[in-house]
Amino acid sequence: MNDVNVQRMNQGVTRVLSFTSGKGGVGKTHSVTNVAVALANQGLSVLLLDADMGLANVDVLLGLQAKGTLHDVLKGNMTLDDILLKGPGGIAIIPAASGVEEIQALRPEEKMFLLEEIERVAHRFDYLLIDTPAGIGSDVMYFNSAAAEVVCIITGEPTSLTDTYALIKVLSTTYGEKRFSVVVNNVASEKEATAAFTKLSRAVERFLQVDVRSLGWVPADATVRDCVMQQRPIAAEFPSSPAGLALAAVARRIDDELPQRRAKGGMQFFFRQLLEMNSYGEEAGY
Ligand SMILES: Nc1ncnc2c1ncn2[C@@H]1O[C@H](COP(=O)(O)OP(=O)(O)O)[C@@H](O)[C@H]1O
Ligand SMILES: [Mg+2]
Repeated sequence: MNDVNVQRMNQGVTRVLSFTSGKGGVGKTHSVTNVAVALANQGLSVLLLDADMGLANVDVLLGLQAKGTLHDVLKGNMTLDDILLKGPGGIAIIPAASGVEEIQALRPEEKMFLLEEIERVAHRFDYLLIDTPAGIGSDVMYFNSAAAEVVCIITGEPTSLTDTYALIKVLSTTYGEKRFSVVVNNVASEKEATAAFTKLSRAVERFLQVDVRSLGWVPADATVRDCVMQQRPIAAEFPSSPAGLALAAVARRIDDELPQRRAKGGMQFFFRQLLEMNSYGEEAGY
């Protein structure tokens, strides 16, 4: 057991949000990590699961030394509590498993064991935030289709918009996901953010009949790079910087405006879905 500080009782509801993106390099890990710290600054307890197996980097972004990984938990060398890292604001982090390419590729009994361990720990928190890999691979679908809220991180670049459209298309047509939230990151102005959001929302609402809502936008801010270089989260170091304020606003909107309880909102539902999806990815052809 380590000393991860759970700041308050979560009143029995753990909200599960996955952060995802059509393409890599758009700021997904930066956003999810700082939204986690911002939620913690607002008095909420947060568990952050780094599920980007190929490119594990939440711990690096926060300058933390992983004591072990999900791989060690799988091998039975350590428990999940042993590998839990304590981050800024008291957030807890489950570092990804280097050496495990995809959770979906694990044997069913390994996957069940891991998910049960994560569920056991996650119920102590107000939020479980998941940093998924980019793209439309099987782990992306796996976590996004079970999470109560899918938060897409986009930029103003045409490639980000087309790749996010492709991701939403698969999640809506194959997995029945009909609601998405969007954060526009790394843009020069509100005008650019609005243009990007409008372009994406018009296309998906028209052609895919899904509902997208904006959680806000985060400006391109030189402080972000400084913080990444120093391995310190902007939400803890420079909360009053433009990007820091914007990320805090996103966190507030998540806590205030996203529906607290939805049919698929409960954490138990999330984990049950994941366990039942053992062969779902294969059936869907991923
Ligand atoms: N709002 C921003 N302003 C400036 N630079 C940013 C911003 N968001 C992200 N970046 C830069 O983009 C890089 C990639 O971000 P990262 O979160 O690792 O992307 P992803 O997880 O989507 O691959 C960061 O290291 C940072 O330098
Ligand atoms: Mg990343």
